[in-house]
Amino acid sequence: MHVLSLKEYDGKWIKSIVDRGLDIKKRPDKYANALQQKTLAMIFQKSSTRTRLSFETGMTKLGGHGIFVDWRTTQLALGGVQDEAKVISGYADAIMVRPLKHATVAEFAKASRVPVINGLCEKYHPCQALADAMTIQEKMGKLKGVKVVYLGIANNVSNSLSVACARTGADFTLCVPERDPDSIDQEQLQQLKAMPNYHETHDVSEAVEGADILYTDTWVNMEFFNDPKFAKEKTRREKLFMPYQLNKALLEKAGPQAFSMHDMPAHIGYEIDAYALRGERSLAFVQAENRMWAQMALMIELIRK
Ligand code: CP
Repeated sequence: MHVLSLKEYDGKWIKSIVDRGLDIKKRPDKYANALQQKTLAMIFQKSSTRTRLSFETGMTKLGGHGIFVDWRTTQLALGGVQDEAKVISGYADAIMVRPLKHATVAEFAKASRVPVINGLCEKYHPCQALADAMTIQEKMGKLKGVKVVYLGIANNVSNSLSVACARTGADFTLCVPERDPDSIDQEQLQQLKAMPNYHETHDVSEAVEGADILYTDTWVNMEFFNDPKFAKEKTRREKLFMPYQLNKALLEKAGPQAFSMHDMPAHIGYEIDAYALRGERSLAFVQAENRMWAQMALMIELIRK
């Protein structure tokens, strides 16, 4: 049982992880030995704050252990994923991988004898989506019928968030001028477009009216942010996406019921303003904490099975 995107799972399964995450957050002592003597190998090809710390601390709170592995200090490049992943799965009870490309985590899953979790690739961010669904459920008391609007660039985060929301009955609107070409999953998109609670529009004013949640993410992925070769494209995107910035004015336009969300790291003055990230209507820091609780729920599900 692996978690590579989220599209492998139905709404009932997603909701069960959300509910368990909320229970663990409320009563962590009950789960203090849930993964005693178990080990999660955490393999990173890219940088991270939340994913690394939330998985590692989550394993500690469950009585287990997380091992941080920097890809560059292993023999993965020399030995190849097929054999090295098989070896790692002989030591660990689960493997979390943050790869540059989805094909790498998929190859891990093929070779591994233990569950493999995608910790963010260019196409999906399933762990973020589980924490986000938990955050919405926690704040709104439900997922069904909650109006979620994602603004900015369609990417790995919106891919997994849209699946988590649409399959659990939330009303999801993708309000973007463009898709990150590396993130497109046509099969998933066609499935979503056939659902009555999935919508797409370019019209920001129309999209945000009456929304409960306004969500955004970086317009440029972390590996390209300071890359001089990407500078021209970054400038083009800043101009194109600025009308989709999640800011105070947009929250006020949505109405007093609206909250802002961002998976972080955030870039103030670009996809979000300081009020939407740090003000009283922001859920961004709750989301970041919920990464840990939701992933604890996920690891119990995968490792115990
Ligand atoms: N949201 C997220 O995945 O954060 P990190 O890149 O810090 O792990």
